[in-house]
Amino acid sequence: MIIVICIGSSCHLKGAQRVVEKLQMLVIENQLENKVILNGSFCMGNCTKGVCVQIGEMIYSVSPESVETFFQNEVLHAVQR
Ligand code: FES
Repeated sequence: MIIVICIGSSCHLKGAQRVVEKLQMLVIENQLENKVILNGSFCMGNCTKGVCVQIGEMIYSVSPESVETFFQNEVLHAVQR
């Protein structure tokens, strides 16, 4: 699974760096280093929401506060399937 996190300026202001750091931590905690790849991207054209995170075709709006819930729902469930 490839997770792309927007690191454009608007998302940066909304905490993209913290989202990336938390995702890195969660991937390691869950020993998913071989299954999940984190990538950065410039602006995805969705600046009005939270930090843009893309998995496949889906674009999610994540914040440093909601990133753990996002990980549980969208990442853990998918890789454990
Ligand atoms: S800066 Fe992230 S979507 Fe525009």
